[in-house]
Amino acid sequence: GMLADFVEELPKVELHLHIEGTLEPELLIALAQRNGVDIPYKTIEAARAAYQFEDLQSFLNVYYLGASVLREERDFYELTLAYMSRCKAQQIRHTELFFDPQTHLANGVALAAVMGGINAALRDAERDWHISSALILCIERDRDPQPAVALLERACALGGIAGIGLDSAELGNPPEKFQEVFKVAKSMGLHRVAHAGEEGPPAYIWQALDVLDVERIDHGVRCLEDPALVRRLVDDRIPLTVCPFSNVALKVFSRLSEHNLGRLLKAGLLATIHSDDPAYFGGYLSENIIETLSDLDLTAEDALLLERNAVEAAFCTDQRKQSLL
Ligand code: HPA
Ligand code: ZN
Repeated sequence: GMLADFVEELPKVELHLHIEGTLEPELLIALAQRNGVDIPYKTIEAARAAYQFEDLQSFLNVYYLGASVLREERDFYELTLAYMSRCKAQQIRHTELFFDPQTHLANGVALAAVMGGINAALRDAERDWHISSALILCIERDRDPQPAVALLERACALGGIAGIGLDSAELGNPPEKFQEVFKVAKSMGLHRVAHAGEEGPPAYIWQALDVLDVERIDHGVRCLEDPALVRRLVDDRIPLTVCPFSNVALKVFSRLSEHNLGRLLKAGLLATIHSDDPAYFGGYLSENIIETLSDLDLTAEDALLLERNAVEAAFCTDQRKQSLL
């Protein structure tokens, strides 16, 4: 339809994307074979059939299993270049990618292999397709916070890190556990974001703001439960990187037509739409935007507002932002 055409052609910005979550079943099966990693699915169809989730944890189990096939620098290069070529096809001009180094280190993969592969693909996509990017190192909140500072320092020494994030199992793992590494990140001049208020309560969003000093909240959809928090987010123009397909797949909302994105926008919040883990949740950025607008009776004008919000929320220079508008 006309709305779909408009969104597909619109220059777009992705701000909430886990690179490991772009591992499509085809590449998953191919890498499992190439690297001799034993995974429970033997076919592409069996892998897809396993992508049925009850909540965040049941997804994370499948996501970390998938990530275990990534072993060599070229695996990370191929994964990232495949995602960047999706960006090219979807008119995504700027993308900010999360990665989960602690998972790869636990699998015995060197940090230099992970970052070497990702950074090389990002450089090639910038050179060949003029897609700008930023790489955000995610700390996994269901692991011990203690080694995080040394990891961050090692990653920054390798180059290409624009910011720090906080992901993985939210409930029971409040942001305040990670105060130290976020403080170090700020002192190093890094950007700061955190997943909060996806499954966790508004108190976790407050902590992300007040204890971690984050510049954006990833998800944040539960903020509407707390009017004082909404005022804070509106007054400080804190972006919320909302991922509608993810929220439905993980049963944060029962269906897309029940999503609160329309209410977030009406409240004056700086909400944006992103794809989170598109290989697992059924679609990339264009599909997320088109289906969400359509199911919530939103318009092309709302699509424009969402993309202007995403440009404002992006971690790039003002000059680059001007060229994205
Ligand atoms: N939430 C938290 N952690 C994650 C996600 C998510 O949606 N995707 C990958 N790691
Ligand atoms: Zn996420």
